[in-house]
Amino acid sequence: MADRHRPRVAVYPGSFDPLTNGHIDIIERGARIFDSIVVAILVNVEKAPLFTTQERVEIVKDVFRSRPNVEVDTFDGLLVDYVTRREAQVIVRGLRAVSDFEVEFQMALMNRRLDPAVDTVFMMPAEQYTYISSRLIKEVFSLGGRVSGLVPESVERRLREKQGARR
Ligand code: PNS
Repeated sequence: MADRHRPRVAVYPGSFDPLTNGHIDIIERGARIFDSIVVAILVNVEKAPLFTTQERVEIVKDVFRSRPNVEVDTFDGLLVDYVTRREAQVIVRGLRAVSDFEVEFQMALMNRRLDPAVDTVFMMPAEQYTYISSRLIKEVFSLGGRVSGLVPESVERRLREKQGARR
């Protein structure tokens, strides 16, 4: 039986390279349902991210600075091990479209096999964010397209700074 006195902690893992308004929508929904939600940024040494881990942490911290039940952290290794270390019970993942489902289903079942005590909860973002991905944001911005309204202002500013530094 669930312990009613134990805080319900959710972990929202991802690359967040960069954070989008779709991610923000999911974090806000999670923060309303769970006692707290930990935005867990994967430190992936193999991938070459556009934003450093530190920058990605700063962006999330900045957006959620007035939300005490939203925390940001980094992790490496197995997600389920991190979830256990944080004494969390739930992994939150966003589902934008049917195309997300297959890979998310695989990850959720693998994570359940690795640790049956951890459950995955899927949340749908608002419709206007269903087509946004970090990859598309980076591509559109690098080709001169507008991304305002799709990412927080701090991300847009940092994208511009990175572009300026390259020129
Ligand atoms: O934002 P992303 O890139 O879709 O997030 C993917 C993430 C970080 C959730 C996934 O790659 C992950 O959990 N990596 C940690 C390693 C791990 O536990 N792998 C097995 C999960 S099935």
